Amino acid sequence: MIDAALTQLFPHSATVALAGLYLAHDLRRLAGAQPFVYANFVASLDGRIAVPDMVKGGLKVPMNIANARDWRLFQELAIQADLIITTGRYLRDYAAGKAQEILRVYDDPRFTDLKAWRTAHGLTPQPDLVVISSSLDFPVPDALTQGGRRVLIVTDGRAAAPRIRELEAQVGQVFVAGNSQVEGRRFVELMAGQGYRIIYSAAGPKIAHMLLADGVLDRLYLTQVSRVLGGAPFSSIVEGPLLARAIDLPLRTLYYDAASEGFPGQLFGCYGKK
Ligand SMILES: NC(=O)c1ccc[n+]([C@@H]2O[C@H](COP(=O)([O-])OP(=O)(O)OC[C@H]3O[C@@H](n4cnc5c(N)ncnc54)[C@H](OP(=O)(O)O)[C@@H]3O)[C@@H](O)[C@H]2O)c1
Repeated sequence: MIDAALTQLFPHSATVALAGLYLAHDLRRLAGAQPFVYANFVASLDGRIAVPDMVKGGLKVPMNIANARDWRLFQELAIQADLIITTGRYLRDYAAGKAQEILRVYDDPRFTDLKAWRTAHGLTPQPDLVVISSSLDFPVPDALTQGGRRVLIVTDGRAAAPRIRELEAQVGQVFVAGNSQVEGRRFVELMAGQGYRIIYSAAGPKIAHMLLADGVLDRLYLTQVSRVLGGAPFSSIVEGPLLARAIDLPLRTLYYDAASEGFPGQLFGCYGKK
């Protein structure tokens, strides 16, 4: 399955391999004076990135659009980062056993080549992690700090001081980047001050909104699976107030991953000015 080739549709047509596809985007060359920030989603044709979890409650990535080929590309994006963004909500779901594993994927034998890629590029074994949360209401799983990675927490002026001190003792530094919520630009500037140049959002639509609203999201990677899900409630790729200015993200590359037995196919798109 991982071996099947893809058709590149834009900017020119070609047959390309899946493995190495997004490594070839060579994101580490794109940071300039400001960090390079990118996000990734897998969505249905009707724009759903999360649907109700009928067993455990809340929302989750629809299992009928999650797939190994998209997951491989998710990992190729993650491996290139200095820092991965996650959220308080993710850690609550992780503790409840209902989150997709993003904290320990580097133990996964499917991705040993990606581990080697980081070593060859002189990078730490895995990217550092930043948790964005207003509430600071999440348990800290062991997997968060395993492997010697640095964990940062970014919150806003609503966070309670005793909880901040508790997390600092337990996990790592807690930063405040906004009054009523974390603001995208302040967040990115703070992270730049900590030496991070390549920042990947593995988080959801509120973080995407936070980054877009402040004009700090450079690229969106969007996988669109040829399947319609319907249903409500659901999440799409951006959630929050109407953006003061619509944000243009021109198409950079588009690949067609053909239908196969039991799977309707998907498009891997990459959008952004940089
Ligand atoms: N299909 C996909 O590709 C995909 C990708 C990512 C996520 N998802 C799904 O999307 C849903 C939501 O994901 P998510 O919770 O990771 O992301 P999110 O909706 O972007 O973020 C939600 C949480 O992050 C914190 N947060 C977000 N913006 C903030 C801000 N400006 N200031 C302070 N805190 C902020 C809050 O944490 P606190 O509540 O702790 O304050 C909030 O509950 C989940 O169901 C997930 O499975 C799907």
